Amino acid sequence: MSNHLAAIPETGIASLGLHLPPLSMRVEDLATLRGVDPQKYLVGLECEEFGVCPPDFNVVDLASEAARRAISRWDGDPADIGMVAIGTETAVDMSRPLSAFVAERLNLRGNIRSYEVKHACYGGTVALRQALEWRLSGAAQGKAALVVAADVATYAQEDPGEPTQGAGAVAFIIDKPDIARIETVSYPYSSPAFDFYRPVGDEYPIVDGKLSLDCYKQAAESCFKALIGKEDPGAIIDSFEALCFHVPFPKMVRKTVMRMGEVFGWGAERVNDMFHDKVEPTMLWNKLSGNAYTASLWISVAGALQGLRTGKRIAAFSYGSGFGSELLQIIAGPLAAEAAWAEDIRKDLAGRGRLDGDAYRILRDLGTLKAVSA
Ligand code: COA
Repeated sequence: MSNHLAAIPETGIASLGLHLPPLSMRVEDLATLRGVDPQKYLVGLECEEFGVCPPDFNVVDLASEAARRAISRWDGDPADIGMVAIGTETAVDMSRPLSAFVAERLNLRGNIRSYEVKHACYGGTVALRQALEWRLSGAAQGKAALVVAADVATYAQEDPGEPTQGAGAVAFIIDKPDIARIETVSYPYSSPAFDFYRPVGDEYPIVDGKLSLDCYKQAAESCFKALIGKEDPGAIIDSFEALCFHVPFPKMVRKTVMRMGEVFGWGAERVNDMFHDKVEPTMLWNKLSGNAYTASLWISVAGALQGLRTGKRIAAFSYGSGFGSELLQIIAGPLAAEAAWAEDIRKDLAGRGRLDGDAYRILRDLGTLKAVSA
């Protein structure tokens, strides 16, 4: 082995932290407010609740607290952090990166590469891959990275996407693979499209719902085909304890998995069983957070890693409109079993207030619930 290779440290997720905003709403209450049959949101979209940010709370708060929690559980020294990379599509400034706002809160300064990554909901995964590859290249010289995926997903009032709103942040310390290792080889797929985009200055995204579902399915199919190659799809899928997906809303994931079953040539029963065993359980926290854009996939992964024995594998499919996607393979490490990060979700869920229709309408009418606010 060359000296260069000998210097490459073992790399993966050493610590995890999550944060959800302090308010929430049940989709039934939104349905009542909008005069819609609640079954459309509960059954048609498979949504349950979504997180809401109060006026004095934004993506900087979400990202900073998730990062603080991840650092607090890490056995390393914050002075050894050499990269801060944040994936978001809730930019608070067109020039100053979200990482600068977070670094300021956490007093991270010095010999650190600090930046923001944008690629719709895929940006957090890109930041994570860059941190992994930075360490594996040897350029990190053994330093750790702080990576955060954080977003507030808000749609205009009465927009069909309103029940799919949400918010959340997931932070990672990329250092020793105590919680999980991530395979160096991954399976990306991209193809330019205008399925979901937010022009500069616009408060809310423009969504072509049908196109975004088609792009998402095409991306998932292509990434899984690349992973499976000439192998038996059943054997490859069985090698994973769980399959995690980006979750714009849970029904979108179900439809994508059904499509994958068709591609594999599986009957309805087999694909339904697979969805029930390996996919649906990973979306429990997503059904309480709502869509958190860059953080969505990673909320699902954090849920799926809980309690896994060392060596157990999960697949993680990341998708961002525009569009770009990547399929990763994640292998549980020794700290997955105790899942210390689950306490973050328990604490945030127990502490959050619930908005009824009137309170939500007042908040929105005041114009205080903004996708973009500094
Ligand atoms: N009871 C049960 N189900 C009902 C219902 C009722 N009363 N009324 C409608 N539904 C079902 C529909 O049949 C449909 O299910 P299906 O897709 O399985 O057929 C589902 O509810 C949605 O209804 P639809 O009329 O298609 O919804 P919509 O036009 O209001 O669109 C979204 C809603 C969420 C799909 C759309 O706004 C959207 O695509 N949003 C964003 C997508 C996104 O985030 N993309 C980017 C990231 S990948």
